[in-house]
This record gives sequence, C-alpha cells and structure tokens, in this order.
Amino acid sequence: MPAKILTMDNLDLDGKRVFLRVDINTPVHPETGELLELSRIEEAALTIRDLPNSIVVVASHQGRVGRYDYISMEKHAKALSKVLGKNVRFVQDVFGEAAQSAIDGSSPGDVIVLDNLRFTAEENVEFSPRDAEKSVLVTRLRPHLDACILDAFPTAHRSPPSIVGFAELIPTCAGRTVAKELMKLERIFGIEKGPYVTVLGGAKVTDRIEAIEALIANNRADKVLLSGLVALVFLKSKGKYRGSLQVENEQKMLVKARQLLDDHPQAFELPTDVAVRVEGSRRELDVSEVTERMAVLDVGTKTIDRYSRYIKGAGTVFMSGPPGAFEYEEFSLGTEMLLKAMADSFGTTIVSGGHLSAALHRFGVADSIDHVSTAGGALVQYLAGKRLPLMDALERAAAKWGK
Ligand code: 3PG
Repeated sequence: MPAKILTMDNLDLDGKRVFLRVDINTPVHPETGELLELSRIEEAALTIRDLPNSIVVVASHQGRVGRYDYISMEKHAKALSKVLGKNVRFVQDVFGEAAQSAIDGSSPGDVIVLDNLRFTAEENVEFSPRDAEKSVLVTRLRPHLDACILDAFPTAHRSPPSIVGFAELIPTCAGRTVAKELMKLERIFGIEKGPYVTVLGGAKVTDRIEAIEALIANNRADKVLLSGLVALVFLKSKGKYRGSLQVENEQKMLVKARQLLDDHPQAFELPTDVAVRVEGSRRELDVSEVTERMAVLDVGTKTIDRYSRYIKGAGTVFMSGPPGAFEYEEFSLGTEMLLKAMADSFGTTIVSGGHLSAALHRFGVADSIDHVSTAGGALVQYLAGKRLPLMDALERAAAKWGK
C-alpha cells in the first residue's frame, strides 16, 4: 500500500455519515436494460460490510449521457441489498432536499444509494480540486457528511467533484477496492517483463486510442492486437473497411488511427476476418467482404488463432474491452478464445474492465489470470504511468488528515 494515502483503518468511521464514492457502473443489456453482471456491486459490498456502524451514502455514476446504459441506480440498489442481505434505501436524487433529508433521517448501520451522479451536469465534467470544492454537489452535501471514502478505482482517471472535491474538506481515505487494487498492482509492477502485448477491443474508441498512445509512449505495448469497434476504425483509416462506424468524432478518430499506424507500423495487428450476423446466425467473412449494412459482432477464427499466438508468447499481456459482442452466444467465440489464450499464457496477465471480468467468470478462467481489475481506462492510465486524479485526492487528504 502506498505510504502516502490513508485507508479505512486510519479513520474513525463509527457513527459517522460517510460519503462512499464507488464505481458500480455496470454493463447493461442493450435491449432489456437489465444489469448484466454484479462484480463491481459485489466489490462495493466488501467496503460497506466493513462500515457496520456508519451511515453509508453510496454514490456512483452509471453509463454515459445519451447512451442506453445511462440509467438510474434503482436496480443497483436492489442488487446491493441482495448482496449485502440487508435493506438498502434508494433515493431518487443526488444532492437535493430528498438526498439531504434521507441522510439526516438515517441511523448508523443504514445504507443509502443516491441516484446516478451523471444525472447532474457537474459530474460529466473534469474539475480542478479547488473548483470541485465550490461545486453544487460538494457544497450541498458537505454539511450532511462527516467523512469520505474513495473506492472508485475504475473512475480514478476522471476528476468530477465526487472524486476530487471532498478530500480536503472532510477526512477522506481509500476504500477496500482501491486499497486492494493498489497493493496488487504494486506487486505486478515488481515482476512485469516484455514483450508487452496489449489486446484492445470494445466500443469506447476514444478511450482505446488514448490508451494506445499512452502505452506506446511509455514502452508498454510492443504489440497491440485490435478488435471490436476500435479495430474497425483502424481498418477504415487504411481504406480496408467500408462499413459505417457510428463513432463520435469519427473523422478525428480516423485521422488519429491512421497516424498511429503510420508511426508504429510494426506494433499493430488488425483483424483479417470477422463475424457478422446473417439471417440470425454467425457468419465469418474476410474484412474485405463486409458491406455497409452488416454489423460486425466478433473477430473471425483466423484472427483469433493469430492473436492467440501473440498472447501465449507475451511476457506481460494486458487486455481491455471485449473482442466481440459476447452477450450473444454466437458472437462470444473471440472473447472466449482470447481469454483462454491469456489463461494459458506463461506471461503476467492483467484483464481489465467490468465487461471482461464478467466474461472471465462466464468462461470459467478467472482464477488463471494474475490480476483481474474492475477498472478499464483508469488501469490503462495507471499502467502507462500517468498521475490519476483519485490518487492525487487521496494524497492531498493524507497530507491534511493523516497524523
Ligand atoms: C469505466 O467503466 O471505465 C468507468 O466507470 C469510467 O466510465 P467512463 O469511461 O464512462 O468515465
């Protein structure tokens, strides 16, 4: 554990009103809106169980504005209640009167879940610590709180008021998830070795491109194996894919992708074949055969074999973002086989992100991976050696509240 931060063992939290900033941002089924897995909620429960005599005010964001996963925290509160085996109160509010009176009316041992932090404008913006202290969220909630626990490692690379605003106003420490992640990662940093293979998939194109830039700049990506939407952006930038992408800032992303390919021609591996849905079933095609109207939902078998060889020969292999739409049985092959290649690898293996943690459990290989982190983008930034706002908040808090 880094000496410079406080943990829950350093603060007296009994009888206190504790703002617990977790990240229970959870994969949601695009059609039914159901929560697809509960790994982050289960992790949050570890911290809550260690606060039996506090009033615990659980706060998290969920999804991104305008996307199908931008939903209320009501389902999360229900799931948390089941995991904890006790009553959890959901409040349909973030910092208004309903939230404030719910906190004031609670007794030690109670757990409250506030609504999606991103329903408020401020939580969608990056703040400096000083501005965050003056935010509406912090000024309205602050009089109703005695302490803050930062336990949102997957959001450690963001700086909304809920992450960076309380640290110097009320005693603030790391929660169990953050403490566990940092301990594990410090150990891994002690044994890592090259070649470094990075396997990136999923739909968060901007994040993945940032990740690639950060990892390459810090010599943490000798090979980058691309899949998912991010692979299609790279293929399209080379004129090798003709389908539509529906990616935010598409033109900018295409230019960036092209630049990366030109600057690091040896580093990238792109799919040569993919799986699309034809009349309700999986069909594999060469990338050049994909037409405008086809939805690419997985990598193809030839690509899976080639990527698996790189993964098995890696010294350190890091995977973030699923290679395919594994929530559909017929498009889960790429995700399953590449995770199994990681499980068989002699290298140090790190798998990140909520979607992939769920997939690891589904394919029964979670125990063969050295570190499974619930974090995605934050972990990439950490691996690339960037300073994370959440860590910075914890260090500021330790300097102020540590004995
Ligand atoms: C994540 O799942 O990576 C975190 O919850 C952060 O989500 P964001 O990328 O939407 O900020």
